[in-house]
Amino acid sequence: MSYTAPDTAGLDPAALYDTLVAQAAGLLSGERDPWANTANVAALVFALLPGLNWAGFYFLRGGELVVGPFQGKPACVRIALGRGVCGTAAAGRSTVVVPDVHAFPGHIACDAASNSEIVVPILDGGRLVGVLDLDSPATGRFGDVDAAGLEHLASLLAAGCDWTKAGIDGYGS
Ligand code: SME
Repeated sequence: MSYTAPDTAGLDPAALYDTLVAQAAGLLSGERDPWANTANVAALVFALLPGLNWAGFYFLRGGELVVGPFQGKPACVRIALGRGVCGTAAAGRSTVVVPDVHAFPGHIACDAASNSEIVVPILDGGRLVGVLDLDSPATGRFGDVDAAGLEHLASLLAAGCDWTKAGIDGYGS
């Protein structure tokens, strides 16, 4: 497969997310392996969305979040539920948008370049799989359109992977 990025110049943010979700659906088509699909989606997000310095996944394994496929600098490996932005989104099972990470109590700094962050839980029915985490060097980079678009992407991934193959809590083996 040779991937060619679509021309996204001139798209408004909502249309850009429509393109991102359509491209992700194409990548997931015919493939349900969680590691393969989340690796490709991390690369897709990083390639298509402007202004990011980190994009990737943490998965619920052994009672804590463990880093999964991502693009960006090496990151902290384990995050307890309820800790940091990722652990807060995972524990609350809801999206957390942080306009200024330096003002978020307990923020875990992995890349000193990060100034804003969005974390979206991946929920398969009622079960927490993990989170999708995006960081930006720009303050206030993420808003409602990002939350809606990334939640759409997360639901596509939740339904499009066979999580029993990933050693994720609650999925048996
Ligand atoms: N900042 C996150 C940690 C993960 S890195 O951003 C990749 C947090 O506070 O949970």
